[in-house]
Amino acid sequence: MTSQAYLSDLFSLDGRVAVVTGGSSGIGRAITGALARAGASVVIVARTERQLEETVQELTAEGCRAAWVAADLGTRDGVRGAAEEAAGVFGEPDILVNCAGINVRPPMGELGEDVWDTTMAVNLDAPFLLGQRFGPGMAERGFGRIIHISSQQAHRAFVKSGAYGVSKGALESLARSQAEAWSPYGVTANTLVPGFVMTALNRQLSSDPEKVAALAARTMTGRNGLAEDFEGAAVFLASRASAYVTGQSIRVDGGFSVH
Ligand SMILES: NC(=O)c1ccc[n+]([C@@H]2O[C@H](COP(=O)([O-])OP(=O)(O)OC[C@H]3O[C@@H](n4cnc5c(N)ncnc54)[C@H](OP(=O)(O)O)[C@@H]3O)[C@@H](O)[C@H]2O)c1
Repeated sequence: MTSQAYLSDLFSLDGRVAVVTGGSSGIGRAITGALARAGASVVIVARTERQLEETVQELTAEGCRAAWVAADLGTRDGVRGAAEEAAGVFGEPDILVNCAGINVRPPMGELGEDVWDTTMAVNLDAPFLLGQRFGPGMAERGFGRIIHISSQQAHRAFVKSGAYGVSKGALESLARSQAEAWSPYGVTANTLVPGFVMTALNRQLSSDPEKVAALAARTMTGRNGLAEDFEGAAVFLASRASAYVTGQSIRVDGGFSVH
């Protein structure tokens, strides 16, 4: 067996169908590219059509199979509609990546019900509803991979964690519940846990050079995260290779959480 055949047997996503929420920007966009280049047909879901289109165009120009669905995952109807539309493109997904997320950071005393509800809707309810829609089918077919993107704020308070930290803590618990339910049927559920990654989500923090340098110093690698840092971990968790890894929260954070 050649090394290429060996690697392909372990990690290839040829013939797999993936749905990636938030696949049009930042970490989700990098994960989308990784899954598509590893062979999966990928449908991305987010609100802004221009970014969705750009992401898909880049991949199809390379010969990958990709498509987009524009939807607001902040409403239950939006999630349900997006799920049906996404499954209609390449078929029912084998891989679900819940990466869409928002981080609105009012001070705790001013955190109102609106911010709480919107945060929970996008960061927690949408992953739950998509899991309910696709998980049982994956279990029936005997293969599935559910990958959530949580945050270090599931584990520690950090820059006004507010509702965001709570939603991410619950998301990791959701992964464990899904793992418990469906792992006997070949469906794993895991969470990738970023530290600080330079993306649009934390534009404000990223634009302060002193804070950026201080955060980089708190890692072991001496730099902050890049969206590309998630490519390898996502392909691993989506592939056959990770069959015995389930219910886990895997830090991709340059050692930030253990330093
Ligand atoms: N960057 C970090 O330091 C960091 C750290 C820890 C965890 N994370 C997590 O990583 C994930 C990706 O974040 P990122 O940093 O890559 O941020 P990003 O570049 O802002 O990407 C967020 C994505 O989610 C989509 N989205 C947001 N609200 C949505 C909604 N209501 N309906 C549908 N799609 C929606 C966005 O598209 P539209 O706006 O077009 O809808 C975009 O594609 C998030 O879950 C975030 O919590 C990030």
